[in-house]
Amino acid sequence: MKTIIEPFRIKVVEPLKLTTRAEREAALHKAGMNLFLIPAEDVLIDLLTDSGTGAMSSEQWAGVMRGDESYAGARSYFRFAAKLEEITGFEHVIPTHQGRASERILFELVGGPNKVIPNNNHFDTTRANIEHSGAEALDLVIEEGRDPRSRHPFKGNLDLDKLEALFRDVGADRIPLVMVTVTNNSGGGQPVSLENLHGVRKICDAHDTPMYLDACRFAENAYFIKLREEGQSRRATRAIVREMFDLVDGATISAKKDGIVNIGGVLLLRDEALCREARNVLILTEGFPTYGGLAGRDLEAMAQGFEEVLDEDYLNYRIRSTAYLGEKLLSAGIQIVEPPGGHAIYLDAANFLPHIPTEQFPGQALACALYLHAGIRGCEIGSVMFGEAASMELVRLAIPRRVYTQSQIDYVIEALVEVHQKRSSIKGMQIVEQPPTLRHFTARFAEISC
Ligand code: F0G
Repeated sequence: MKTIIEPFRIKVVEPLKLTTRAEREAALHKAGMNLFLIPAEDVLIDLLTDSGTGAMSSEQWAGVMRGDESYAGARSYFRFAAKLEEITGFEHVIPTHQGRASERILFELVGGPNKVIPNNNHFDTTRANIEHSGAEALDLVIEEGRDPRSRHPFKGNLDLDKLEALFRDVGADRIPLVMVTVTNNSGGGQPVSLENLHGVRKICDAHDTPMYLDACRFAENAYFIKLREEGQSRRATRAIVREMFDLVDGATISAKKDGIVNIGGVLLLRDEALCREARNVLILTEGFPTYGGLAGRDLEAMAQGFEEVLDEDYLNYRIRSTAYLGEKLLSAGIQIVEPPGGHAIYLDAANFLPHIPTEQFPGQALACALYLHAGIRGCEIGSVMFGEAASMELVRLAIPRRVYTQSQIDYVIEALVEVHQKRSSIKGMQIVEQPPTLRHFTARFAEISC
């Protein structure tokens, strides 16, 4: 059969509050036109992020009850570490409270002034942690990855020529590691091919430089490889995942994505000495190495989530249902980053609102218009988030895992088609207040009236 159904049924429900346009207008005004500052209760369909917003399974909740809350050496830690080792092959598994904690520990140890850290595209927290250490964060995604219309199957790939050129220009001593983000969140949730990962590895080997993954969405990336890369279709996703991790010296993971938990992170390291140092920093800022800022119950939920995410029926539903949203928008004439990503659809706000110039933040204007019209919350990924480093003006509609049904997604499609019809009435924005870093979380905006 052609219909892809949700491969689960609903056991617990959470009521949604319907709001009027006047209520949404008031909420938006109070929040300074920043959707991060709106109470979640006033949001009907929350597509702000797929991070920590997934629905846990009955087995994960059972794990929560089984959680061993011992301070040191908890049973839950050993179960968690064994599951991560089984999936990734890494012997040193460090739990952290979320992805950015793994990043902070790693870059505190390997970053610092004068260092340069390349990636396909750094996510905002990764870039911020690198810059906080004094190092420079560089984005080296392939050119197709910057073109919303390109249908390249692996638009997350890192440009190998640019990487070679970087080694030539700055020298290996200034590059403590090369990172690859799978899937490439800032570049449209696009996957990276195995071939490209092998290519990066080869360059790293030639310069004796470690290679790391930002592996938040490793399962979705591996499933795209199975679907799209020549010679991979008969392999189990699990085997592809293992090959991805076998290639690298370490990984930072936010378990709030493909771990399908509400909180949790992982730092994977091969180097013994670095691992010892990381555990010392962990004790200082997160917690003892067998809990790393989490409760035992969280470690149980993660162990189970990392197993469930590799179920190919789940992955098929996940990738196909995201594509459903994307393809429907495309056929309604709404430009998205093509092809549809794994965890999100990215609206091309510059194309949607051609009358709003970059410096008037078309992504922010579109995200606010969608909320105002239908109570749907998306997230600007463009000049507000990245300033001048932004290569596209996007609004991300991230799909929480196992949360929304197809009829709710149909509502999102209808709302966007209606907003698109009256797009010429949407106005540009200006920033009226902003913090020094990660401004998108707390900045306040105002509409430009003329
Ligand atoms: N790396 C990537 C690629 C991410 O997408 C995120 C989080 C992180 C690192 C940091 O992980 O939130 O657990 O500290 N992305 C979320 C998002 C916030 O909405 O895409 P974290």
